[in-house]
Amino acid sequence: MRNIVILISGSGSNMAAIVRAAELGHWAERLNAQVAAVLSNRADAQGLALAHDHGIPTQVLDHKAFASREDFDAALKAEIDRYAPALVVLAGFMRILSPAFVAHYAGRLLNVHPSLLPAFPGLNTHQRAIDAGCRFAGATVHQVTVDLDHGPILAQAVVPVLPGDTPDNLAARVLSQEHLIYPQAVAHFLAQLPMRSKRG
Ligand code: GAR
Repeated sequence: MRNIVILISGSGSNMAAIVRAAELGHWAERLNAQVAAVLSNRADAQGLALAHDHGIPTQVLDHKAFASREDFDAALKAEIDRYAPALVVLAGFMRILSPAFVAHYAGRLLNVHPSLLPAFPGLNTHQRAIDAGCRFAGATVHQVTVDLDHGPILAQAVVPVLPGDTPDNLAARVLSQEHLIYPQAVAHFLAQLPMRSKRG
C-alpha cells in the first residue's frame, strides 16, 4: 500500500476533503493508496481531531521546541519517513520548508496555495488580490520545489472577486474550490506514480 502523509497547521479542511475522497473513491482498492498519517506543527490544529475520528494516526511536532528550521525539518522528516510515504501532502501547513527537506521529497511533495500562481505567492493572498483589483482569484495545486510557491502547477480553480468582497469571504469561496481540486489532483498524481512504493 502506498502511504500518503498529510501535514497541517490549522483547520485541516483540505486534509478532510482528501480523507473523504480517499474513502468515497476507494483509493485503497483503486490506487493502492491510503492516508497513513496526519502530522501537525501545532497542537491546537482542529484537523487533528477529525483525522483521529477517521482512525488515522496523528502526531504533533511543535516547531517552537527546535532551535532552528533545519532541526525542526530534520525531526519532521524522521517522523514522516516512519510511514515510508509515496506522497507527502501539504494542506495548510504554514511553514517554509528548508531546501534539504524539499530535496528529500523531490517529486512526491504537493501543496495547495490560495491564489492563481504565479500571482501572489506567500501570505495574505486574498487581501492582495482585492487590493490589486483582480476580477478573478483562485487556488493552485502544485509540486513543491525550493522556490517558494513556484513548483510545477498540477491544477487550478478560478473564482470571481465580487464587489464588496472581504478577504474572509473571498477566502471561503476559494477554499470551497480547493476542496474539489486538491483531492482530484492527488488522485491523478497517484495514478501516474508507479503502483508500488519504492520503499515497498
Ligand atoms: C488553505 O486555504 C490553503 O490554501 C492555505 O491555508 C488554508 C488552509 O486551510 N495554505 C497556504 O496559505 C499555504 N501557503 P485548511 O487547513 O482548512 O485546509
